[in-house]
Amino acid sequence: MVSFKTLNGYLCLIFICTAAITRRVTCADGNIASHAACCVLFPIIEDLQANLFDNECGEDVHESLRLTFHDAIGFSKSQGLAGGGGADGSIAVFDSVETAYHANGGIDDIIDTQAPFVAKYNLSAGDFIQFAGAVGVSNCAGAPRLEFLLGRPPPTAAAPDLTVPEPFDSVTSILARFADAGFSPAEVVALLASHTIAAADHVDPTIPGTPFDSTPSLFDSQFFIETQLNGTLFPGTGGNQGEVLSPLHGEIRLESDFALARDSRTACLWQANVAEQSHIQTTFKAAMAKLAVLGQNPNKLIDCSDVIPVPPALTEKAHFPAGFTKANVNRACAATPFPTLPTDPGPVTSVAPV
Ligand code: HEM
Repeated sequence: MVSFKTLNGYLCLIFICTAAITRRVTCADGNIASHAACCVLFPIIEDLQANLFDNECGEDVHESLRLTFHDAIGFSKSQGLAGGGGADGSIAVFDSVETAYHANGGIDDIIDTQAPFVAKYNLSAGDFIQFAGAVGVSNCAGAPRLEFLLGRPPPTAAAPDLTVPEPFDSVTSILARFADAGFSPAEVVALLASHTIAAADHVDPTIPGTPFDSTPSLFDSQFFIETQLNGTLFPGTGGNQGEVLSPLHGEIRLESDFALARDSRTACLWQANVAEQSHIQTTFKAAMAKLAVLGQNPNKLIDCSDVIPVPPALTEKAHFPAGFTKANVNRACAATPFPTLPTDPGPVTSVAPV
């Protein structure tokens, strides 16, 4: 019987290995890539880092990540969109249609900001959106290195309305919408790690840039910890659709995040992300890889993942914000206890806007 084993990129028959699996090319600028077609991406990374992201995990990174989702989720198995749509750039190409959808409120900002970059380079809008998201996330300490596959064709039509979930949707409706796009409840929770590098401009328009956790430039587990704390205040006016009480001044909480953190179908998945950095990274990376090729045939795309920069490691440890302990947790997972965490020293603080 013949037995194959892969060992550090080598194909091995028993213990005779040949360098057959990964061929690497040296690009004209000296960079190394897994495929010659990926060489065009290196100068784009430099441009995006310097002129779009300022080499930071800031607002343009957050918005670019949100855009990857709002483009890709325009996909539905039940509506017969399984052979198209999805991560195809339709949100940018047919922007006058899709940005008018209620759930896409504010997304026009980043579409407009990215537009000159899209025009400058010979990438499809679908490729550009997913590429910018992956490059941007690499600036966030603690993030996984996201995959990037190149070669999405231009979109043929706008996505229909109501494919993007709203923060006031029920958990049943959110899980059904994601299931219709091919995602399990575990993958929904995995994707929501995105809200650890996120803020809201439009949920309460009186306080734009209000983060969902106390560390919006770190890809950490604070979002999963802080969404489980008892809510006591509104950071702004309150009474906004899709917003519920938050535990911290300067932090806004979505009704959907509140509900997913407490629903019996997702609470234990949510809690499993508390202080489990490598679990968050692995599951987010896998779910994002799936999201980024919705509606596409991955076999026709070229894997350029190795051009994406490696994100810095996280040095901060998971903790309760100052003034909070386990006593402030709304425990929702009956199966396992809430992890023990240290509390940040000092008085209760307020989260600064991004
Ligand atoms: C239940 C599903 C989801 C709902 C209801 C939801 C809802 C929202 C809302 C209401 C905002 C604030 C927008 C604003 O006012 O500016 C937001 C921000 C954001 N969302 Fe989601 N989201 C969901 C899932 C996701 C997923 C799957 C991703 C990415 C994979 C994502 C990434 C982001 C990011 C990065 C931001 C911050 C944007 C910024 O800071 O400008 N969201 N989300």
